[in-house]
Amino acid sequence: MRANGIVIAIDGPAGVGKSTVGKLVAGRVGYSFISTGKMYRALAWKALETGISLEDDEGLVGLAASLKWEFPKGSGPEADVSLDGLRPGLELTGERVSRASSAIARLTGVRLFMRGMQREAGIAGGVVMEGRDIGTNVFPDAELKVYLDASPQARAERRSGQLRAQGVAVNHAEILDFIIKRDAQDSGRKNNPLKKAEDARYLDSTIMPREKVVDAIVELFNSFTAGR
Ligand code: DC
Repeated sequence: MRANGIVIAIDGPAGVGKSTVGKLVAGRVGYSFISTGKMYRALAWKALETGISLEDDEGLVGLAASLKWEFPKGSGPEADVSLDGLRPGLELTGERVSRASSAIARLTGVRLFMRGMQREAGIAGGVVMEGRDIGTNVFPDAELKVYLDASPQARAERRSGQLRAQGVAVNHAEILDFIIKRDAQDSGRKNNPLKKAEDARYLDSTIMPREKVVDAIVELFNSFTAGR
């Protein structure tokens, strides 16, 4: 076992609820939660701010290396991402940053940089880490791996619901189209594409309510740690 417990890796496509589920699991088992998508988003946001091309792998790695990355404890189980002492917030969630993060996530150097930083953040264990390649690439040795899936339609429904609840006017067809395009980019890329690790548990939240998904992961965690 690692110093602080195990690594729970949760991978899956955009909008499947990895963050919600991951935070709930982390809260239940007393672990911290790290979203690796947020790291890609933070770098994409900086790149857009500084005008570095989203295709310039070397330039982006240089930018990433010039920043001071910290993951301070937040109010809940989720660790914040802090860049040079500043914690970006809502600016990371917009469509422009979403597209840019998916674009830079294709690049070899950027992925290597992220992998190094993510391994360092989770190596001591006691962490739920979510992303696209945690079980396959960042922590192929994670003690517990989950691949969370849901149909694009179900994910688009959920996203539309969230936006409506925020009072935002929703174009459902556009949201579905955006999800399908991002899936294609994340699964179709050459470098560490989104895919299920062979030894990951497959959970489909199209047919399973979120609380049941959380219960299932906590149960897997309990049966893993009971044997140690
Ligand atoms: O999970 P998210 O939507 O916040 O991630 C933003 C983008 O970052 C996503 O389109 C793909 C990329 N990403 C990745 O390639 N590998 C990860 N481990 C996490 C995110």
